[in-house]
Amino acid sequence: MSEVYGVILAGGIGTRMGNSEKPKQFIELGGRPIIIHTLEKFAVHPGFAGILVLVPQAWMGYTRDIIRRYLPDAAGIEVLQGGETRNETVMNAIRHIEKMGRLTDETIIVTHDSVRPFVTHRIIEENIQAAREYGACDTVIPATDTIVESREGGCITSIPNRSYMYQGQTPQSFAAKKLKETYEALSAQEREILTDACKILVLQGEKVQLVQGEVFNIKITYPYDVTVAKALLGMEM
Ligand code: CTP
Repeated sequence: MSEVYGVILAGGIGTRMGNSEKPKQFIELGGRPIIIHTLEKFAVHPGFAGILVLVPQAWMGYTRDIIRRYLPDAAGIEVLQGGETRNETVMNAIRHIEKMGRLTDETIIVTHDSVRPFVTHRIIEENIQAAREYGACDTVIPATDTIVESREGGCITSIPNRSYMYQGQTPQSFAAKKLKETYEALSAQEREILTDACKILVLQGEKVQLVQGEVFNIKITYPYDVTVAKALLGMEM
């Protein structure tokens, strides 16, 4: 059976959260850092050969400390350096798996934003299954608001049919070797327009299967989201 690795993306510094003494993934929610809530969802899943956590270099020691403190029984978690961009962070994870001599055509990575602590067992499980079956998948929910496109930011360019629109969440899961090869084949210019890991494959005409997310699988981006997350955490318990 192919090996599956959890990849927790925490290489960002959370500029949209505003000035804070630490990146948003380390802000406390119900007494524990957000990244610990997220990591726990992966640590309790039996399907992973290992879990890689990628953070800014300056936060590697701190991350190891909080994992020891809050998840003392969790095994197989490794802290690595994130990349300049989110996609480079994903690539650092794959390069690490390759260095360990574990990268085969079958190796699957389940990549997940460190700041989406409400991911469920069902979503993780369906990601693993879909990545095994189709090679790549993205977690989405149907768009509830109408999406309005404006190229200049002044007036409407188009209004796509809402029934075809989805909001992208994470996890996004991939056959890791194929993702890396496809990324490496892109030009620097093509890489620059990649705002999303799934786009690496979509740009090359590869299929990416949809997995159903949850409305509550929110990403903590702005201070407002911390307030929402606190309310959601109360509902979880
Ligand atoms: N991320 C990453 N490596 C990067 C940039 C982002 O692993 N070079 C991660 C973030 O840590 C986060 C996830 O990708 O868990 C989603 O990105 P986003 O919400 O945009 O996080 P930040 O880049 O930290 O936030 P901002 O865009 O506000 O600066």
